Amino acid sequence: APISPPELTKCGPPDLPAGAKPINCCPPISSNIIDFTFPKNPQVKVRPAGHLVDATYLRNYEEALRRMKALPLNDPRNFTQQANIHCAYCDGAYHQVGFPDLDFQVHSSWLFFPFHRWYLYFYEKILGSLIKDLDPNFCPSVLELGFTQCSKTPTLFFGSAYRGGEDSDPGGGTVENIPHGPVHVWIGDNTQPNLEDMGSLYSAARDPIFYSHHANVDRMWTIWKTLGGKRSDITDPDWLESGFLFYDEKKNLIRVKVKDCLDTTKLGYVYQDVDVPWLEAKP
Ligand code: C2O
Repeated sequence: APISPPELTKCGPPDLPAGAKPINCCPPISSNIIDFTFPKNPQVKVRPAGHLVDATYLRNYEEALRRMKALPLNDPRNFTQQANIHCAYCDGAYHQVGFPDLDFQVHSSWLFFPFHRWYLYFYEKILGSLIKDLDPNFCPSVLELGFTQCSKTPTLFFGSAYRGGEDSDPGGGTVENIPHGPVHVWIGDNTQPNLEDMGSLYSAARDPIFYSHHANVDRMWTIWKTLGGKRSDITDPDWLESGFLFYDEKKNLIRVKVKDCLDTTKLGYVYQDVDVPWLEAKP
């Protein structure tokens, strides 16, 4: 069975690593859940490469983040709330619907890519809506240059199957393991007990670089699909019908499914076309 979106009312305390300051990372509750629908006539925007953006772009991005941090703490669009989403979905705050003993965990399985794509999608919508007055066309996820392993099959790339009623952590795909993981650890602060912020799941998204790192990981998914052979999205309905909940830029709680995030142009974005020299490089 697919993994159903979690029940927000059953969100509990996260399992934190030793030495972490206790936090409650549950989102505000809303009883009104809206099913995701694609934006009508999406204007497809380009997520630019971080090393190629200009000063105006950077200023707008900083301003969007500033405004996000300035929102009331109980507003689901607030930066801390956005960061908490990662904690809630990764540290055992949610359990699987109907399986109270099983964690809802979006790492170390085939949910890794689609979860993070949806997460960035709403984060970006919120940032964009906060600076509509400055730049109505803003597409704020800056990304870095990166590299990937060219996994030859969907299972190698996405990670192992994780279905409703199954234990979390069946195993992540190649990109989730490397380079995704080491970049977290490398950026984390080694004077903190658990390499906070970036080096620990519960705190990673408190560092704005998280979203750029994940935009780059998300870009690897789009590139991987163009490499031919067996490299294409999983067709198993248990993956396609699995889902998550996110608040959007209007503070509506939206239920999304994996199947609706496979084509980024339908979500309204593509990545800037830049050279990918690592594709040819031998490790
Ligand atoms: Cu949800 Cu880079 O981890």
